[in-house]
Amino acid sequence: MDRVGVGLIGTGFMGKCHALAWNAVRPVFQDGPEIRLVHLAEVDAGLAREKAAMFGFEKSTDDWHRLVEDPEVDVVSVTAPNAFHAEMVIAALEAGKHVWCEKPMAPTIGETLAMRAAARKAGKTAILGYNYVQNPMIRQIGRFLAEGAIGEVNHLRIEMDEDFMADAVAPFSWRSEAASGYGALDDFAVHPLSLIWMLLGRIRSVTTDMAKPYAERPDRGGSRPVENHDIASVLFRLESGASGVLMANRAAWGRKGRIAIQLYGTEGAITYDQERMNELRIYRAAAAPAEAGFSTILAGPAHEPYAKFQPAAGHGLGFNDLKVIECRELLAMMAGKQAHVIDFERGTEIEQAVHAMAAAHERRAWLDVEYV
Ligand SMILES: NC(=O)c1ccc[n+]([C@@H]2O[C@H](COP(=O)([O-])OP(=O)(O)OC[C@H]3O[C@@H](n4cnc5c(N)ncnc54)[C@H](O)[C@@H]3O)[C@@H](O)[C@H]2O)c1
Repeated sequence: MDRVGVGLIGTGFMGKCHALAWNAVRPVFQDGPEIRLVHLAEVDAGLAREKAAMFGFEKSTDDWHRLVEDPEVDVVSVTAPNAFHAEMVIAALEAGKHVWCEKPMAPTIGETLAMRAAARKAGKTAILGYNYVQNPMIRQIGRFLAEGAIGEVNHLRIEMDEDFMADAVAPFSWRSEAASGYGALDDFAVHPLSLIWMLLGRIRSVTTDMAKPYAERPDRGGSRPVENHDIASVLFRLESGASGVLMANRAAWGRKGRIAIQLYGTEGAITYDQERMNELRIYRAAAAPAEAGFSTILAGPAHEPYAKFQPAAGHGLGFNDLKVIECRELLAMMAGKQAHVIDFERGTEIEQAVHAMAAAHERRAWLDVEYV
């Protein structure tokens, strides 16, 4: 494929990230097909026109069906709210397009399985927006684990916290609707789950407690009951036998983009925090006691694909750069190459873990994750 035609649905937080990534992927990596920004869809025709001009798309529409049916579109970025993912993705796959859908896959397991079935049937590339797995520092953690730098991991803790819903007067949005999912589990916990999946494999069993710090939120001059949970605390076991703790809170004052990882192994430990995404710390138990301590490694050209962005170590990549890397992986997969992504097969397993967590909360029990 020498040329790839792109369609973009949605132009909010993630829509803009996808648009920036599609514009940057070729100049950054200096390879791959020519990228043609073909069609953009938004809810309002004026907004769609304005954003298409801003991001460099040729056509715009207020009806995403027209974008999906456009023969000049080869791949569709789906960045609309969760409740629309299944309908949009399945239509795109049935129209023969590749798909880059934002996480989570969908609020219900039925929709998730239908999306996976549509991807299998279409035989097209279908991946999810799990950008954090693309961080060169996360890939370095993967290399450390593969070479046994901290031995066998027997315990891990991952916490994902932000404060955009910490204020009691933060307005009601689609994120608090049951139609968007369970709340912190779909919105947040899926990201740590993508990291766990990539670094350590699948989750075997879970038990969960979910909480709702505010029962209502302001809505159109009045208030509206919150329909899902902003906080989730999960204990789990991996298939490897390692024990783990996962906490997600989107109402955590002071936390801006925290994904704090602690991995404890038989021969050392690794820690990482997304708020300091250009560094990781490793403790090697083999060090002489007088020299033992965590050492900090800063991201640099030795950590692929950092060098594609800049030649200087310690200068740092940013969140949007992870989307550019994800876009490059998507293009590789579309070209039939090996890619480092969460595709719909892996994404379905993440959703199955999420639904087991929610069911464990309901039943106040430990449950095995059912992978079908
Ligand atoms: N990967 C990440 O790190 C990350 C971060 C934030 C959000 N997300 C995910 O991205 C998705 C969007 O979240 P967001 O924060 O960008 O939301 P947002 O509210 O900022 O943007 C959503 C956009 O979709 C548009 N939209 C809604 N319905 C549409 C329709 N029928 N047709 C066309 N456009 C439509 C809205 O007008 C809006 O511009 C969600 O699934 C969310 O979970 C992922």
